[in-house]
Amino acid sequence: MSIGIVYYSRTGNTRMIAELLADKLKQKDQTVDLIEIEAVKNPGFFSAGRAAMKQIEIPVKNTNVDLGKYSSLVVGSPTWAGSCPPLIKTFFSSAKNVKGKKTALFMTGGGLPEPQGKQRQMMQQYLTENGLMVSDDFLGLQMQKGKIRQGEQSIDGFVQSFLGK
Ligand SMILES: Cc1cc2nc3c(=O)[nH]c(=O)nc-3n(C[C@H](O)[C@H](O)[C@H](O)COP(=O)(O)O)c2cc1C
Repeated sequence: MSIGIVYYSRTGNTRMIAELLADKLKQKDQTVDLIEIEAVKNPGFFSAGRAAMKQIEIPVKNTNVDLGKYSSLVVGSPTWAGSCPPLIKTFFSSAKNVKGKKTALFMTGGGLPEPQGKQRQMMQQYLTENGLMVSDDFLGLQMQKGKIRQGEQSIDGFVQSFLGK
């Protein structure tokens, strides 16, 4: 069985972290696939913020994706207007074979996404309402100009804890 890292990234930060996590998991002899959620049309800054605030659906290209072959998932998202982008909800509402799947979350932001923050709660809700089993593991990273500004020291602990469960 392998691990699926599912993420959305508009400007590359979350993708970079997804790839970093994939490398760290592979170093621990795990088989990992990266699955990028792709918007049919990536929104500009303002329509992204509006969509997040009003929870307006942004259509995704990859619908009905079967995640049945993964024993567990890591799901990553940026923060938009203190919220979780609605694409995460859209992707998982059509994804197949996700019920009961052990899942850990990570988020990036211009500020540091806190474990108890609203964006994390929303993300968790989007996943649990589709049957995923979200663990307490959470990695929040503050990003700036494509670099990690805060939270880097938590990455190895996140990976360790995820594999230990
Ligand atoms: C529309 C929009 C709203 C944002 N709102 C927030 C916010 O409320 N808090 C925050 O910390 N970062 C916010 N950001 C910054 C992004 O979360 C941050 O740059 C993230 O790492 C981008 O990830 P990506 O490059 O994978 O798309 C916002 C970015 C966008 C585009």
